[in-house]
Amino acid sequence: MDKVVQQTSAERPDSTPSAAAAVLRDAARRGRTGVWFVGARGSVATTALVGALAIRGGLTGALGCVVEQPEIAVAPLPGFGELVFGGHDVVDVTYAKRAELLAGQDVLPGQLLDPLAGALAAADEQVRPVVAPDPAADPGSAQRALVASLRADLEDFVARHGLARLVVVDLSSTHAPVEVTHEDLRTPESVQRAWEQGRAPLPDSAVHPWAAFEAGAGFVAFTPSPGIDLPSVSELGRRLGATWAGADGKTGETLLKSVLAPMFVERSLRVDSWASVNLLGGGDGSTLADPVAARSKTTTKAAGLEALLGRTVPGPMHIDYVPDLGDWKTAWDHVRFSGFLGTQMTLQFTWQGCDSALAAPLVLDLARLMSACMAAGETGAVSELGFFFKNPLGSHEHALSVQWQELARLAGRLAERAQPTGTAPPPTATAAQL
Ligand SMILES: NC(=O)c1ccc[n+]([C@@H]2O[C@H](COP(=O)([O-])OP(=O)(O)OC[C@H]3O[C@@H](n4cnc5c(N)ncnc54)[C@H](O)[C@@H]3O)[C@@H](O)[C@H]2O)c1
Repeated sequence: MDKVVQQTSAERPDSTPSAAAAVLRDAARRGRTGVWFVGARGSVATTALVGALAIRGGLTGALGCVVEQPEIAVAPLPGFGELVFGGHDVVDVTYAKRAELLAGQDVLPGQLLDPLAGALAAADEQVRPVVAPDPAADPGSAQRALVASLRADLEDFVARHGLARLVVVDLSSTHAPVEVTHEDLRTPESVQRAWEQGRAPLPDSAVHPWAAFEAGAGFVAFTPSPGIDLPSVSELGRRLGATWAGADGKTGETLLKSVLAPMFVERSLRVDSWASVNLLGGGDGSTLADPVAARSKTTTKAAGLEALLGRTVPGPMHIDYVPDLGDWKTAWDHVRFSGFLGTQMTLQFTWQGCDSALAAPLVLDLARLMSACMAAGETGAVSELGFFFKNPLGSHEHALSVQWQELARLAGRLAERAQPTGTAPPPTATAAQL
C-alpha cells in the first residue's frame, strides 16, 4: 500500500521520474481502494454500500454524487468496481436486514435488495466487531490493545484484498466534545506515556483515526466527533504522512446556510437573528437526543454561520429527536434581516431531507477523492475537500460557492499529477521510522 510523508513540492526530489517509476505509479493508481466504514452497520454506511453495489451492477445511476460534475470528474478517481468495502461496528445486524429497514422507510428502493442479496452477504463477511477490552487489564493497556486490534483488522483487510490504499470513513455514532488541553492529549508521546502509566487518554472517537494512521490509511471524519482534531492525533497523522479530511458532513440545513448566508452579506442585508429547529429520528437522532453528544453537532453547525456572517447572531438552535421520522429530517429556519432604511423582513424555509440518501453519495465521493489524493501524494488535512463539511479541517472557508471552486481546483491538480510526466509520489514512512 502506498503511504507517503509530508513534503512541500519544492522538497520532492524527482521532477523527472524514470519510465519504470511512472509505470509503478500508474499500477499503484490503478490498484483497488479499500473503503472501511467505522459504524459499518449504520444507516449512512448501509445506504452508501447499497448505492455503490447498485451503481457497480448497473442497477442505478450516480445521481447525488458531486464527482459526476464535469469540473470534478476530471480527477483520476477509482471506479466503483475498484472499491472494496469493509468496516467495524459494535452491532452485528446483517446488511440485508439493515437495508430492508431502510427500504421500509423509503430511504432506498426495495427492488434493489434481491439482485444485491449475494453482494450484501459477501460484504457482511468484511465487517469486524470492535473487540471489548479485557476487564482484567488496566485502562492504559486496554486502550493500547484496542488500538492494536483495530489496526490489525485494517492491515489484514489490505493484505487479504491486495489493496493499493485504504480510506477509513468514520460513520459511527456522534461522540461528545472533549477537553483538548489535557496534558495527556498534547502529543503522540504524551498519549504513549499515559498508556504506559495505566491511563486511557484517547476518547472513543480518537482510537479509529489513530489506528488508521498507524495502518497507513487515510481518514475521513464524516461525524462531528472530536477525535481527528485532537493535537496528538493530527500530529501522529502528520508524522506518518497520512491524508485526512473532515469534519461532519454538510448535507442539509447547514448546506443551505452556506449558500444563503453569503447571499445576505453580498446583498448588504443585515441578518438580525437566525433560529433553527431540526427534528430527526433514526440512530443519529437517538444519539443526538443526549445533550452531551448533541453539543458536538450544534458546535459545528453554529461555527459555520458565525464565520459566514462575520459575527454571532442571536437565535436558538434546536436538535430534537422524533422517533417516528426515522431517517428523515425536517429543518425549519426563521431568519430576520434588515434592508434599506432598516426595514425588517423575514425568510423562512422548511427542508425535509432523507439524511442517509443525502449523505451516502458524499461518502462515496470522499472515499474516491481521498484515494486519488493519496495516490497523488497529498498529505495532511485536504482543505479543498471543505465543500463536503460543516467544519472544514485546514480551512476557514464556509461559503459553498468558494468551496466549490477550491474543490474544482483540487480535481484539476489531481488530474495534472496523474499525467505520466507528473511528479512521482514522495517516499514512504512507517510507524517504526518515527
Ligand atoms: N446523515 C447525514 O446527513 C449526516 C450528516 C453529517 C454527519 N452525519 C453523521 O454520520 C454518523 C452516522 O449517521 P447514521 O445516521 O448512519 O447513524 P446510525 O446511528 O444509523 O449509525 C451509527 C453506527 O455506528 C455504530 N457505532 C457506534 N459506536 C461505534 C464504535 N465505537 N465503533 C464502531 N461503530 C460504532 C452503531 O452501532 C451504528 O451502526 C453520525 O455520527 C452522524 O452525526 C450524518
